[in-house]
Amino acid sequence: MLYTSTTQLIGQTPVMSIAVPNRDAVLVLKIEKNNPGGSMKDRMARSMVLAALEDGRLAPGGTIVESSSGNTGIGLALAALEFGLRFIAVVDHHAAPDKIRTMRALGADIRYVEGDFREDEVAVVERQRMAAQLGAQLPGALFMNQSDNPANPDGYAGFVDELLGQLPEGIDAFVGCVGTGGSMTGIAQRLKRINPAVRTIAVEPAGSIVFGQPGHPYYQSGTGTPQGDEVGKVLDYGCIDEGVQVTDSQAFETARYIARRKGLMVGGSTGGTIYKALEFIASGKLTGAVVTPVADGGEKYLGSVFDDGWMAERGLLDPAVAARLDAWLTAEARAA
Ligand SMILES: Cc1ncc(COP(=O)(O)O)c(C=O)c1O
Repeated sequence: MLYTSTTQLIGQTPVMSIAVPNRDAVLVLKIEKNNPGGSMKDRMARSMVLAALEDGRLAPGGTIVESSSGNTGIGLALAALEFGLRFIAVVDHHAAPDKIRTMRALGADIRYVEGDFREDEVAVVERQRMAAQLGAQLPGALFMNQSDNPANPDGYAGFVDELLGQLPEGIDAFVGCVGTGGSMTGIAQRLKRINPAVRTIAVEPAGSIVFGQPGHPYYQSGTGTPQGDEVGKVLDYGCIDEGVQVTDSQAFETARYIARRKGLMVGGSTGGTIYKALEFIASGKLTGAVVTPVADGGEKYLGSVFDDGWMAERGLLDPAVAARLDAWLTAEARAA
């Protein structure tokens, strides 16, 4: 097949298994970082733009506006190129700098929110306000509002269709991260429609308020809902069996471990879902084929998660995490 547009490269991402010795389970990673923008968000970005073009909220030549920590913005920049639209990304200092550079390279117009925010504080409320204002003021512009946009979860239909073909013996559990809740909702609802027995676990950063815990700042980027922000309307709690939290150290140390041991660079939020999936498997709470998406790649976090100095300065290094992962993943350690 000879493709004629970059967005045709979205989807058909491969799956890779990680064996868990002595447990009746296998962890299956769906490698969403292989999408052209480097994350699973390419799927929902294109879906939101298509829906808006189809129902006339956007017209050719118009402008997409979105508040994004990066991955949605990269996906929207690709969709804007495909459909001949302008794209304004409203960002804050919390986004990984390379994600912003990527959006700029793809032709996006970058606008920073103003204000004095701590390094680990997400200025998401101000970002939303500025994006809504730009969407309302500029002629031909539309604020995509991914947290409330039903085309966000709908964008993951292809993810589930592909997975069903890739795992013909069945899917027993899905462990996903929750930011807007779009991917979790879109994937979990569809999996449960096909087989209500599929277990669904949603992972948020410790400090995020999605599952009612007290809020505090965290470093995991693109995921969770920080204190002061509203949980996305797209999030359907009804399709989630359990909501759990993962610390920055657990998430980041797991991402570093997977790179060292498996040769796969995953981002921080994926480190978090892998850690929790393995914890559930090790305790016998999940069995069978347990799927988690590689939401994005570690290449986007070379200056943070994969930088020893950055990790040490923030007190995020914790060798106990790697020791725990070793115990979960090696038969010898288990027998000892
Ligand atoms: C790396 C990463 N992980 C997790 C998420 C959360 O996904 P969702 O918004 O579908 O809940 C995002 C969203 O931007 C992301 O970029």
